[in-house]
Amino acid sequence: MTTCKIDYQAPEGLLADRVILVTGAGDGIGRAAALAYARHGATVILLGRTIAKLEAVYDEIEAAGGAQPAIFPLNFEGATLKDYYDMAETLDREFGRLDGILHNAGLLGRIMPFEQYNPELWEQVMQVNINGPIWMTQALLPLLKSSPDASVIFTSSSVGRRGRAYWGAYSVSKFATEGFMELLADELEHLGSIRVNSLNPGATRTAMRKTAYPGENEMTLRTPEEIMPTYLWLMGPESRGHNGERFDAQPPKA
Ligand SMILES: NC(=O)c1ccc[n+]([C@@H]2O[C@H](COP(=O)([O-])OP(=O)(O)OC[C@H]3O[C@@H](n4cnc5c(N)ncnc54)[C@H](OP(=O)(O)O)[C@@H]3O)[C@@H](O)[C@H]2O)c1
Repeated sequence: MTTCKIDYQAPEGLLADRVILVTGAGDGIGRAAALAYARHGATVILLGRTIAKLEAVYDEIEAAGGAQPAIFPLNFEGATLKDYYDMAETLDREFGRLDGILHNAGLLGRIMPFEQYNPELWEQVMQVNINGPIWMTQALLPLLKSSPDASVIFTSSSVGRRGRAYWGAYSVSKFATEGFMELLADELEHLGSIRVNSLNPGATRTAMRKTAYPGENEMTLRTPEEIMPTYLWLMGPESRGHNGERFDAQPPKA
């Protein structure tokens, strides 16, 4: 059972005074989420691997009068445990706490028969989609614990909830994401101040979707901006009490 909040209307100051980290914030869904969170009052930390894209989002937030964001360049492919702990130290110095993480950065890899899949590509996808985010989360836990009300969102996919032919490492990484979400939610449940959930954006008009479905008419897809209600609800205080649950940003197709 999953829940979708596409009709949610976020109040203006929903995320006022909250410090929120968004990974893959330079493009696609992450970019839309960073802008939406900033528009609702958050101080957003923009993490990604392409600095020019992060700078463009930074400028957009500033131009719209949002709280001053921060840029954190990081490539999940090469990052080490030390990088994540150094990052935690920097964020602790600058902000003292984290009220939310949107784990959104993702790599598709290739859609092809498993027989042809090579281990290097498999590991690259697992590194970006699950291993990197896991160790980053470990390093950032003390900052999340310093928040009175923190929300951690892991981005899933329909192929992380039901296996589908040819989706290879991407599908397996999303299954692992769901599993990690559940165990972390269970481990932190007793704190009562950190909720951990997963969110499947559903088919959304982005570069990744175009790579996966090159022949599709993209105008039939929702834009990243259109799926933001669930992203806002799950990051904001109204989702308090929901922990270890699976959400959908779009209603399932009939
Ligand atoms: N679009 C869909 O239909 C759909 C459906 C289900 C799930 N999802 C999930 O939604 C999330 C966002 O996807 P999207 O469609 O918005 O994809 P996208 O447009 O390709 O954006 C992916 C983002 O992840 C960043 N990224 C990729 N590799 C990275 C790395 N090694 N280190 C740091 N950042 C990295 C990219 O940075 P650059 O900009 O520098 O490339 C980009 O900002 C992903 O987790 C994806 O699996 C999407």
